[in-house]
This record gives sequence, structure tokens and C-alpha cells, in this order.
Amino acid sequence: MPARIAVLRESAAGETRVAAIPETVKKFVGLGADVAVEAGAGAAAAIPDDEFAAAGAAVGPRSDVLRGADVILCVDGPDPKSLAGASDGALLVGALDPAARGEAVAGYAAAGLDALAMEWMPRITRAQSMDILSSQSNLAGYKAVIDAAAAYGRAFPMMMTAAGTISPARVFVMGVGVAGLQAIATARRLGAQVSATDVRYATREQIQSLGAKPVFVEQVTGIEGEGAGGYATEMSDEYRKAQAELVSGHIARQDIVITTALIPGRPAPRLISDAQVASMRPGSVIVDLAASAGGNVEGTVAGERVERHGVTIIGAANLVRSLPADASALFARNLYNFLAAFWDKEQGRPVLPEDDEIVKGIRLTSGGKVVHERLTAV
Ligand code: NAI
Repeated sequence: MPARIAVLRESAAGETRVAAIPETVKKFVGLGADVAVEAGAGAAAAIPDDEFAAAGAAVGPRSDVLRGADVILCVDGPDPKSLAGASDGALLVGALDPAARGEAVAGYAAAGLDALAMEWMPRITRAQSMDILSSQSNLAGYKAVIDAAAAYGRAFPMMMTAAGTISPARVFVMGVGVAGLQAIATARRLGAQVSATDVRYATREQIQSLGAKPVFVEQVTGIEGEGAGGYATEMSDEYRKAQAELVSGHIARQDIVITTALIPGRPAPRLISDAQVASMRPGSVIVDLAASAGGNVEGTVAGERVERHGVTIIGAANLVRSLPADASALFARNLYNFLAAFWDKEQGRPVLPEDDEIVKGIRLTSGGKVVHERLTAV
């Protein structure tokens, strides 16, 4: 029997993405799977049902789509009660947000599903093409700059016109992970003068290679800033003081600031104080991509645009939802790349070995129990 793959229509408020696109449907069919897509699943991402059908999927109501499903693809973790009809041991694959949704994870276990949280994908070379955090952060970094440009009452590039010269916007990017790198590249393409900072010293060269100026704390102990998996660590008090001083002088001369700094499992580090916001000239714009994790900027409100001292602070939350077509395409390919890597041709379905680093990293539930060590260790 070929594996049955169900693609859900998302139900979270404001969600616009879909976990499969016609291209990935075709590829799953190529692997020998039967694919069923819930009617309307791609509507908000500009993918009509007939495009899924043309790619080889059956399109129908959720009850039909889930019947006998061996794999369920989603963007946000659905309500466990909405998944009746799937096979016992079916894989539920998506951004399940296990740290915040303990009850739902227990519900997936009780429903007999193997829930796989794609945001916990280990950051290893083999898993790069399956990494939803990277694919979505990259788009968020781009969109943060576009939104900043839209809110800014001046132009980004230098323009020499008969009526005089417009000077280029100065853009400062704080936090140079995946989102920050794309923000730098995007601001450069728009013609801004760009500078950037991070606690991980390794980003210095990346900043320079994108044609931006690195702004770094020097000669302070503990500047490595890099912990497990290439992520940032919390910094010493001495470092934080030096960083605040350095940033204060710099920020007052910036027009646009994009902040992206995150520390896994912690609230976002506070990088900009209210006084520093006040030092910027009126009309400046800050986009805080860490808003959902508490914000890098004092005064940020997640999901809202506020004004402080004449400066617009955009508390960017779920920015990728405003790029639904591209965000869906990259997300869908991440899911396909993951499942294809574990596809067992003889059995005609994905088979997940217990001892695989990727499986151990993302499998939350199995055999009716919560099995992930990050969830059972408490
Ligand atoms: P992230 O979203 O966790 O954090 C964003 C950035 O904020 C990071 O560069 C971090 O160093 C920086 N940051 C944290 N605290 C800060 C502070 N106080 N001041 C200034 N900056 C601060 O990071 P992201 O984008 O997830 O990338 C983290 C690392 O993982 C990078 O080294 C990236 O290259 C690596 N990576 C590896 C992948 C793989 O091998 N599969 C896939 C994606 C990323």
C-alpha cells in the first residue's frame, strides 16, 4: 500500500501559508505516495485547489483527506482533536511549537501520532535543506527591510537630482544570523549605507563580505559569544556595558535599525533602551524581529506599530505570513527534503530510525507517549 500523505488547511488565526505546493505534491507522487490536500489549503498562498489536483493530489474535505493518512503535513500545529481518522502511528510534521504547546503535544501522543517538530531540526550540514527556521528567517529578514522602507518617510538610495541630492539611508542591523544577513543584503540592494553587529565574532567577515561595516565590541573578555550549535550565548555584564556604550554612539546616527537577536530558550536580549530610541532623529524606523520573544527594543509591542519620541517601532511578529507564496514554497520543500531523506523505497513510506540525530532532535511523541528528552526531563 502506498503511503497516504494529508496536507491540512491551516486553522491558526492569521496563518496564510500551506505545508505543500504543487511541486512537492508531484515529488511525493513520484516517490509512490498518494497525496490528499484539504480544499482551500493553498488559497491564502495563491495556490488554487485545481493546481494541487493537476499535480496529482486528491482535493477534498478534512475527513476524507485524513482517512488512513500515514503522514500529515501542516504549518502550525493543529488541535489534536481535529486529526481523527489518521492511521495509528501516523507522522505529524510541521512547526509544532513544542516549548509553548505542551498540552497539544500530549494530545498528539494520546492520538497515537508521531509528532515531529521541524523547528527543533539539528543545525547540521545534512539537515540544512530541512531547516524551517532558516528558510523562514531569511524571508523575514528581507521583509523587515521592505517594511522599514515603507514606513520611512525618506528614500533609501542616494539620488543626485536637478533639485538637489538625497543622502542614502543609514541602516544598522543588530544580530547577524540568517535573518540579519538577508536584512543586510536587502538594505544594500536598496542602496542604503549598512552597518551591523553581533556577539558572534565569526559574523564579522560575513558582514564585510556583504559590503556592510561591522560594529563590534573589542578587547572585552568573553567576546566569543558562540555556544552550542552555532547559536549565541548570554554575555557577561562587562560585555553588555561595552556593547551598550558602543551602540549608543552609533544608533543616534542611524535612520533604520533592524534587530534580530535571539538566544535559544531565553527571552530576547534587550539591545536598545528607551533613551537610545530618543537619541534617534524623528522619522527613524526600528523593526524588532525579536518582538515575539520579548523584543530587543524597549517599548516594542509584538504585532503592533508604536511611536516613541517620533521614532516608529515595528514589533514584527510572524512577518513571513505576509509573503505566503514564497514562505509556503520554502517551508514545503523543507518538509519534502526531510521526508524524502528518510523514504524507504521498499516499504513505500518514510522510516525513521530511532538512533538518527535528526529523528532524535525532532520526534516529540511515539507509541502513545511523549518521548523527547527536552519534554520529559522536567
Ligand atoms: P538566531 O535567530 O538564534 O539569532 C539571531 C542572531 O542574533 C544570531 O546571529 C545571534 O548571534 C545574535 N545575537 C544574540 N544575542 C545577541 C546580542 N546580545 N547582541 C547582538 N547579537 C546577538 O540565529 P540564527 O539565524 O538561527 O543562526 C544561528 C547560527 O546557526 C548561525 O551561526 C547560523 O549560521 C547557524 N545555522 C546553521 C544551520 C545549519 O548548519 N543547518 C542552519 C541555519 C543556521
